[in-house]
Amino acid sequence: MAGIPLNPDAEDNGNELKRALGPVHLIMLGIGAIIGAGIFVSTGQAAANYAGPAVVISYLVAGTGCLLAGLCYAEFASMIPVAGSAYSYSFATLGKFFAWIIGWDLILEYLAAGSAVAVGWAGYFKGMMANFGITIPDHLSTSPVTWEAATGTMHLSGAIINLPAAILILLLTILLVIGIKASASFNAVMVALKLIVVLLVIGFGFQYVTADNLTPFIPENTGTFGQYGWSGILRASGVVFFAYIGFDSVSVAAQEAKNPQRNMPIGILGSLGICTILYVLMCIVMTGMANYTTLNVPQPVATAVEATGGALAWLVPLVNIGAVLGLGTVVLVLLLGQARIFYAMSRDGMLPPLFSKVHPKFRTPHVSTILIGGVAALLSAFLPHDLLIELVSIGTLAAFVLVCVSVMVLRKTHPNVHRPFRTPWVPIVPIGGILVCGAMMAGLPLDTWIRLVIWFAIGLTIYFLYARHHARTPSYALKRD
Ligand code: ALA
Repeated sequence: MAGIPLNPDAEDNGNELKRALGPVHLIMLGIGAIIGAGIFVSTGQAAANYAGPAVVISYLVAGTGCLLAGLCYAEFASMIPVAGSAYSYSFATLGKFFAWIIGWDLILEYLAAGSAVAVGWAGYFKGMMANFGITIPDHLSTSPVTWEAATGTMHLSGAIINLPAAILILLLTILLVIGIKASASFNAVMVALKLIVVLLVIGFGFQYVTADNLTPFIPENTGTFGQYGWSGILRASGVVFFAYIGFDSVSVAAQEAKNPQRNMPIGILGSLGICTILYVLMCIVMTGMANYTTLNVPQPVATAVEATGGALAWLVPLVNIGAVLGLGTVVLVLLLGQARIFYAMSRDGMLPPLFSKVHPKFRTPHVSTILIGGVAALLSAFLPHDLLIELVSIGTLAAFVLVCVSVMVLRKTHPNVHRPFRTPWVPIVPIGGILVCGAMMAGLPLDTWIRLVIWFAIGLTIYFLYARHHARTPSYALKRD
């Protein structure tokens, strides 16, 4: 988020953004967007419900999928270093149909991800308030429904609404409309804070890891696909994949990067590599400090630390505060990213012009921002974290598969375009990305698939009724060789 202007108009007015971000800045930017509710919340749920201590293998599988897709992303990002995302890349290279599919997919990703992280935030916020002696009642701070992934059924939980999550999103939406400019130094402080908390948990927690908690490392499958055993590890990979989402946000800063051709791939792959190492260590420590069966709670990192029996009690408030601040900024980045994608799609004629309207005073895309904020607040108020996460994961995995396919297609259709960064070992790397990401998608529950299909059906209807007729090819589109 370092210095990304909330005024997307800047690039249109010919206001060339200052190229100030070097490789370290870009890596920090990536880490800032990556570390969030995934490691702080989903790890516990994935371990408890699907994989047990072997959730660490799931993190390695998900990290491999991201690495392979990230190598493909980097080729796009260096070829077309405009402020944008996979949506802009695909429009520039593959035309409007693919651009629409990826853009529509990204809408799902960012919208549901913002809501999911806000729900995760609410869990730690509750914990932090409890540390200050203030109790927020469950019925006002959790979803009114619970979701059983194994059967795909929903049950009433007895709660009414998740107010803290919805209020957070509404407050951040106001900030985004007013157009706060999140500076590089603000981002650096937030990233440092999150890293300190993660490193403290790893560093101090390691001494409390017991072999008992880590055995059986791969709990036996219950007979149902996805419930422990290897199928559980696969399903958990699809869930914890969420923890890696955000590395693509480095590409959004392309216009502000020094030497983007060299530094964008470094930023994307560097942030991904560092987070993978931290996640693996964090998983071992969490499932080693507390038995995995106890981790299906809204704030599993705090629960794991508490399980040390008071020895690390001093760390619990730090974990809660670090998560509240750290997860809050991830929600901000996701809402901002979403508003920018809406804005870009509307500017290209894919969505009605209303969505690229810029506020006369604040110079921000206020209509998109308010619409997105409103929908995200509703989702976070009423839906549970695990359901939202799996929806985000399947949507993003689908986008990654498309990015991998696109790299191979482009090598055929545009063989001579200058590629400052070339994905190595094509087609092995993109095919590997398709297989690993595809396998993670396959491991997700059927009802998550049904939601994805419904989302695409709505998207295709809008495409054929509206977008196809109004879309204009952007000026940065590649010419055919
Ligand atoms: N990777 C981000 C998170 O875990 C989306 O919150």
